[in-house]
Amino acid sequence: MSTLEMLTVLGSGVLGGQISWHSAFKGKTVTVYDIDVEALDRCRAAHEQYAAIYLAEVGATDADIATTHDRLTYTIDLADAVSIADLVIEAVPEIPDVKTAVYQKMAGLLPDHTLVASNSSTLLPSSFAQATGRPEKFCALHFGNGIWAMNFVLPSYGRTRHEYVVRYSRLTEMGPGQIVGLFFGQDTPTDGPSCVYNKTVAVNGSSDEPCIGNGCPGPPSL
Ligand SMILES: NC(=O)c1ccc[n+]([C@@H]2O[C@H](COP(=O)([O-])OP(=O)(O)OC[C@H]3O[C@@H](n4cnc5c(N)ncnc54)[C@H](O)[C@@H]3O)[C@@H](O)[C@H]2O)c1
Repeated sequence: MSTLEMLTVLGSGVLGGQISWHSAFKGKTVTVYDIDVEALDRCRAAHEQYAAIYLAEVGATDADIATTHDRLTYTIDLADAVSIADLVIEAVPEIPDVKTAVYQKMAGLLPDHTLVASNSSTLLPSSFAQATGRPEKFCALHFGNGIWAMNFVLPSYGRTRHEYVVRYSRLTEMGPGQIVGLFFGQDTPTDGPSCVYNKTVAVNGSSDEPCIGNGCPGPPSL
């Protein structure tokens, strides 16, 4: 039985919208936070589009869609958004200063038990760990765009210290799919699998940060 029932997603754009919708579809109670009201409106519209996709392609019923909507809340109030979160997944823009600022702003608002994960594609998770104020409860969970079809997640950084987060991404909770890179990492934190993924598969290449090292075994192990 999972103890990660209350999820907050920071950033309601492309990936935040998908992570929040899919997690609600899989039974989580989800709060979507954004600094921009209009972004939340766009997220609601995207969720309507995902509803149609899940009906057509994922085997959802009308009742599934209704309960998914019921599990979703949208807010621009960060304190409200995280006040009862078991897990916060950050999906704000891939800009280090923006991510650091939101982690710092959130740090004093989180319940003690809350776990925090970054969906960053190219940035090193370790560079944000201290800003969260709880590096021991921080890791990376990198979801794929088109989460209903690209149904995988790359856990990285501190995996072995965050079994609850890994549990969240188990197949039973994420639906059909796979976890790529689950066995990355040793007992010490590792940076890199999502960077490796991006540079070898998605060919993003937008980061100058090293993506191999610090214990990350690199593309062959993917
Ligand atoms: N788009 C992809 O294909 C993809 C795939 C995997 C991972 N990611 C990662 O997901 C993260 C988000 O990417 P995206 O494509 O969804 O971005 P996006 O630009 O679509 O959405 C970002 C959202 O964050 C909001 N935002 C900006 N500043 C904020 C703040 N301080 N607090 C809260 N919300 C804020 C914006 O209003 C916007 O709605 C990035 O780290 C990216 O690397 C993206």
